[in-house]
Amino acid sequence: MIKVLAPAKINLFLDILGRLENGFHSLFMVMQAVDLCDEITVSKGEGGISLTCSDTRLPQDERNIAFKAAKAFFAETGIEPNAVIAIEKKIPFEAGLAGGSADAAAVIVGLDALYETKLSKQKMCDIGLTVGSDVPFCIKGGTCIAQNRGEVLSRVKPLKDCFIVLAKPEKGVSTAAAFAAADKAYIYHPDNLKMLEACSNGDFEGICKNAGNVFEQVIEVVERVEIKETMRIHGALLYQMSGSGPTVFGIFEDEEKAKGCACELKKKFGAVFVTKPVSFGAKVI
Ligand code: C5P
Repeated sequence: MIKVLAPAKINLFLDILGRLENGFHSLFMVMQAVDLCDEITVSKGEGGISLTCSDTRLPQDERNIAFKAAKAFFAETGIEPNAVIAIEKKIPFEAGLAGGSADAAAVIVGLDALYETKLSKQKMCDIGLTVGSDVPFCIKGGTCIAQNRGEVLSRVKPLKDCFIVLAKPEKGVSTAAAFAAADKAYIYHPDNLKMLEACSNGDFEGICKNAGNVFEQVIEVVERVEIKETMRIHGALLYQMSGSGPTVFGIFEDEEKAKGCACELKKKFGAVFVTKPVSFGAKVI
């Protein structure tokens, strides 16, 4: 049996540049893995693929992206499908935290270890991309610039050690709906080059100053204003929505301030976490 940790991600930056020929959007993102992790176990059973998830609101069959990832792994390696997958869910879903993609990444990494296929990271990323745009990052992890669909990844200097509070409003957001809304809107674009420079230099202040997420302009998340205000009052250096939302994250240098903020947010919101940046993606433990 193989056990895999699957970290969530936040978007320090997300800009939509245009439309690709394949219908996907061309993106410029800065992604950061955080230590809010799902735990996935993979083992061999009696043939075929089976999946269980601790959160029964999620599909436990081929509709689950982690199941699709297992199918893609077996198709690519030519190995007869045989996997029992169990997901211990900690990352909220439809949250903008790549919870599903993290599970898919973990399944590919886990099956590679279980079957000793010794696939390269790039090969695993290629398999992952067939099931979701964020899966390659979830395999690579750490701090990366992500371009094109999200699969062209350049590692940059690790984010300075800090505390990242996550607060997810009740209602989930569908990524497809968020892109459709963005397509119809006139979008103001943040400064990609300044963010690129800040990331390349590992300039924490510059990252906080130049962060941005264009989905903030088209997503209607009413609780966002209140969450951001609470984060600002408690001393967050940056507060922003992650991905297509609705999760808002706040970055703090001071642990006590981060914990104080989380304590306040917990009075109103069910899903609040104090996390730290991590330098890894899905990894066998
Ligand atoms: O690839 P994934 O399944 O995560 O994509 C979810 C939704 O977001 C899809 O509707 C896809 O069309 C859209 N998307 C996009 N451009 C990207 C990534 C995702 O249009 N680069």
